[in-house]
Amino acid sequence: MYAITIPEPGGPEALVWDEVPDPVPAEGEVLVEVVASAVNRADLLQRQGLYNPPSGASPYPGLECSGRVAAVGPGVFGWAVGDEVCALLSGGGYAQKVAVPAGQLLPVPTGLDVRQAAALPEVTCTVWSNVFMVAHLRPGETLLVHGGSSGIGTMAIQLAKAVGAKVAVTAGTKEKLDFCAELGADILINYREQDFVEEIKQATGGAGPDVILDNMGAKYLDRNVRALAVNGRLAIIGMQGGIKAELNIATLLNKRAAISATSLRARPLAEKAAIVAAVREHVWPLIDAGHVRPVVDRELPMSDAAGAHRVLEESSHIGKVLLVAP
Ligand SMILES: NC(=O)c1ccc[n+]([C@@H]2O[C@H](COP(=O)([O-])OP(=O)(O)OC[C@H]3O[C@@H](n4cnc5c(N)ncnc54)[C@H](OP(=O)(O)O)[C@@H]3O)[C@@H](O)[C@H]2O)c1
Repeated sequence: MYAITIPEPGGPEALVWDEVPDPVPAEGEVLVEVVASAVNRADLLQRQGLYNPPSGASPYPGLECSGRVAAVGPGVFGWAVGDEVCALLSGGGYAQKVAVPAGQLLPVPTGLDVRQAAALPEVTCTVWSNVFMVAHLRPGETLLVHGGSSGIGTMAIQLAKAVGAKVAVTAGTKEKLDFCAELGADILINYREQDFVEEIKQATGGAGPDVILDNMGAKYLDRNVRALAVNGRLAIIGMQGGIKAELNIATLLNKRAAISATSLRARPLAEKAAIVAAVREHVWPLIDAGHVRPVVDRELPMSDAAGAHRVLEESSHIGKVLLVAP
């Protein structure tokens, strides 16, 4: 088969479409013939040599895919050759075939093209596990999503609205904020022109957001904690603004607030399977019913993964960038 390889870390040109051995499904795994994969920020770090795959994972990039089951390994029940699926991966999605633990497979939702389903596993699993399983967003509460037009953001807005929460977003342009509003966002903040702490305070009658989904890490830590409501929960999922910051514990303590931080990729198989099962139970019916949809900015041929990485680096996209396998 062909896959995107990274012979030497570097810029987008480091991604090389090359012939490699076919993966073989081990016990408990399924072989998927890939129709499409999608680009995640973590792939950019892996390409630069800054985020190595966990031990035992495929060396090729790609944390999600959609396609058809091509073979079923020993000990797998409930999936058959030909099934249309999408999957959460520890790597190897930028390829024509990938072996996946069966617990990380999901069916293609009703009414969706198999290609579009590649946009779903990372964003649904990340948003559901952080915003709902860890931060317990409830109906009537307010969620602040940083980077509302990102792949993650576009899913967070829709899921929070679907459960009856109020949603605030930050984004860097009016066009992106307008798109977030179309998805249902109630409070729009341009992070380049406005102070999000002040804006969200005013928009919530002084209370602040109950939950914040944060992609920035260090750069926003102090501001996020100041913005949070009493009993608020800050869920950190990204480090785009650095890894080290000072924390005012008195502010956290007075608000009786909590901070969590999780990464999906390095979790044990059983935890990933539990998240995928929860997503299938709670999120899939919303997609099947058309209340929540994947947001796809564009599709590029998988051999042009370099072009797709450039799109993410420029942040010229809204939603997900797909890579379609030949
Ligand atoms: N922990 C996990 O398990 C996990 C899993 C998946 C993703 N993630 C993380 O989630 C984040 C989003 O991922 P993605 O794949 O959806 O990425 P993406 O589509 O490339 O989005 C990145 C976002 O960052 C926003 N941004 C940049 N500077 C900002 C600032 N100063 N304030 C607020 N937003 C800012 C961008 O907004 P503009 O375009 O408007 O500038 C853009 O929406 C990334 O940090 C990624 O690493 C974590």
